[in-house]
Amino acid sequence: MPATSLEQIVSLAKRRGFVFPSSAIYGGLGSTWDYGPLGVELKNNVKRAWWRSVVHERDDMEGLDAAILMNRLVWKYSGHEATFSDPMTDCRNCKSRPRADHVFVAQKGRDPKGIDEINAAIAAKELKCPKCGSTDLTPARPFNLMFKTTVGAVETGDDSGLAYLRPETAQGMFVNFGNVLDTMRRKLPFGIAQIGKAFRNEITPGNFTFRTREFEQMEIEYFVRPGEDEAAHQAWIDARTQWYVDLGMRRENLRQREQEKHELAHYAKRCVDLEYRFPMGWSELEGIANRTDFDLKAHSRSPQNPDAVGELTYFDQEQKKHIVPYVIEPSAGADRATLAFLCDAYDESLVKEPPAEETTKLRELVESFAKSVGKRDPKQMEPATKERLVAAAEKIAAALPGSLPELVALSDDADANRIEVWKKVKGAAEKLGEEHTRTVLRLNPRLSPITVAVFPLKKNEPRLVEMARGIKKELQSAGLRAVYDDTGAIGKLYRRQDEVGTPFCITVDFQSLEDKTVTVRDRDTMGQERVGIGEVPAALRAKTA
Ligand code: GAP
Repeated sequence: MPATSLEQIVSLAKRRGFVFPSSAIYGGLGSTWDYGPLGVELKNNVKRAWWRSVVHERDDMEGLDAAILMNRLVWKYSGHEATFSDPMTDCRNCKSRPRADHVFVAQKGRDPKGIDEINAAIAAKELKCPKCGSTDLTPARPFNLMFKTTVGAVETGDDSGLAYLRPETAQGMFVNFGNVLDTMRRKLPFGIAQIGKAFRNEITPGNFTFRTREFEQMEIEYFVRPGEDEAAHQAWIDARTQWYVDLGMRRENLRQREQEKHELAHYAKRCVDLEYRFPMGWSELEGIANRTDFDLKAHSRSPQNPDAVGELTYFDQEQKKHIVPYVIEPSAGADRATLAFLCDAYDESLVKEPPAEETTKLRELVESFAKSVGKRDPKQMEPATKERLVAAAEKIAAALPGSLPELVALSDDADANRIEVWKKVKGAAEKLGEEHTRTVLRLNPRLSPITVAVFPLKKNEPRLVEMARGIKKELQSAGLRAVYDDTGAIGKLYRRQDEVGTPFCITVDFQSLEDKTVTVRDRDTMGQERVGIGEVPAALRAKTA
């Protein structure tokens, strides 16, 4: 059973060392996260797979690692200083701060012509707060999303040292277009790829690592002759979709969404969002835009840009003249992709039926929870939440013990945890779940944080321990991420590795001492086969290539 709520993923991520809340010892900092020992391996594998696919396996791409701090003029001429902002309004009644343009579109059914039209509608009380329905809204104000910092030792008190933490990696590639073109002697079409941090002072961060203020992007700027842009754009849409599928993402959880005219950035000719079906609903994973010649023109010296010292153009031998290439931009988020792979890989299933009397007790507890939710004062719990919990509890109660994984999944639900009776249900479900359900991350072996774990059948048998440690060392030398573990019984060790997505486990037993074979256990089939120790590294490398 896949994850039904983001809380399940958050809980697993914290429990098993994938992602921790940042600076938790001081109470944390809203919506910032630290990748733990397994999370950093997973995210690095995602980034490595992306780099391999878009740089190493292609002949038309080059890599780049541009600085995060750039000349402020980059952000002036890219348009970010003037326009990279969201118009926000404050509701004086419920103190929420919705995006005013979203409110306008939702309630008027069309785009506003600008902030003045939004404010006229607010003044005429034509717009309502989407949270409480009040029309007591403040005029909309633009909030720039770029983080400011100061470059240099002294705070000058004026703007002379002002710099921004880049809000996208893209501009670093545009301003390096000429450098890459000349040094690598490139001909159109060719592209530049870059992975790096970006920062946005998001007004509404949230949904775990989905929307944060500090995140990593994996972006491509692909330069083509005008006229060849549409075909190149479609080719990138197809290639990028296939990349996720090749890494194991289920096709039914991935869709292409054509941006509507009113959504398109002013410079974009077409943009397709790749969306993933996250537990909170379909949401953007990656945007693939045709940005035309906007960016290279914007950073080239011209009457509109007297600050640039050169022109970002391409000498076209066929036409014997300088042209400004068009740009196709597949722009993905490393954190979002990592989160999507985690969600997609999550699987919780029943492996063994619990005794009938335990099932009956649990069913009674779930039924009394459903009744208790039903009685709750609707002011304390929104009717829709109440309905959702009652429906889920009734469905689960009717289908126990088969629905035990669903119940375990619900145990982290924030709304359910607001209800006292839930504590009992949660305790009983988790206890039963521990013995009878199995959580597996069915990650593609190329993404798994650990490729193989090696165990000795007995940790107090020195010959087994020595052999297991030796095999682990050899696997490490073969370039595989291998770990040794002897901190539990074999069954428990398998479960632990299943939960973090390790595709293979090796057990060294007494037979290994005699015939130099080991048991290799497959995470997905749970099948075990005996393999000669000498053949293990090559066999595993073949399965993870
Ligand atoms: N250069 C184009 C650009 O930056 P974008 O749609 O704003 O386009 C591209 O961002 C991708 O970066 C998104 O599809 C998403 O995966 C990721 N991203 C954007 N904002 C993010 C945030 N606040 N937190 C996490 N990822 C984010």
